Amino acid sequence: MLRVCVCVSGGGTNLQAIIDAGKRGELGDTEIVRVISNNPGAFALERAKNAGIEGICVSPKEFENRADFHKALLSAINEAKPDLIVLAGFLVVIPEEVIRAYRNRIINIHPSLIPSFCGTGYYGLKVHEAALARGVKVSGATVHFVDEGTDTGPIILQKAVEVKEGDSPKVLQQRIMEEAEWQIMPKAIRLISEGKVKLGE
Ligand code: GAR
Repeated sequence: MLRVCVCVSGGGTNLQAIIDAGKRGELGDTEIVRVISNNPGAFALERAKNAGIEGICVSPKEFENRADFHKALLSAINEAKPDLIVLAGFLVVIPEEVIRAYRNRIINIHPSLIPSFCGTGYYGLKVHEAALARGVKVSGATVHFVDEGTDTGPIILQKAVEVKEGDSPKVLQQRIMEEAEWQIMPKAIRLISEGKVKLGE
C-alpha cells in the first residue's frame, strides 16, 4: 500500500479531488494517511476532517525561526511514515532536509505548463495573471517531482487547457483546476502506486 501525506495551504480542491478519486477506487492501493497545513484556517483541513483523515497544522508562526519550523514540518511528515508526499497547493518552499529525506518521493501540482509561468513568485492566481498578460492561447497544469529548485523537477504529467477570450485570472484558474489539475494529480498518484512512474532509488 502507498501511504500518502498531502500538504496543503488553502482551499484544498486538489485534496478533495484526490479524496474523491480514492473513494471511486481510482488511486490504486493508496491511503491518505495525513494532511498537513501550514495555515490553521485552511479549508483543506475541514475537507480532511470530513473524509476522516487526520489533519494537522504546522504553522511557521508557532516557531521562533525558520529552522525550527522546518524541523517540525519534517517531524510531522516522518510521523506519518509516508511513501509519497503530495504538495497540493502547499505554498511553503520545501526545506532541503525534507527533499533530502524524501528524494524522488515528493510530487507537486503547478497550475501552468512548465516551463512557462513557473519558478519563484509564480503561485496561485499570479500564474494565471502572468499567462493572460503574455496572451497565451493555451495554458494548463503540470505534476512534477520536487527537487531543490522551484518547479524544476522531472515532469510526470501535463494537461493543456484552452485560454478563452475575455478570461479573468479567476475564470482561467477555475477552468485549469477542473479540466487539468483535478484529473492529473489523482492520475499521477495512481501511476506511482502501480509502480509505473518512478525515479531512481
Ligand atoms: C492550485 O491551483 C495549485 O495548482 C496551486 O495552488 C492552487 C491550490 O488550490 N499551486 C501553486 O501555485 C504551486 N506553485 P487548492 O487549495 O484548491 O487545491
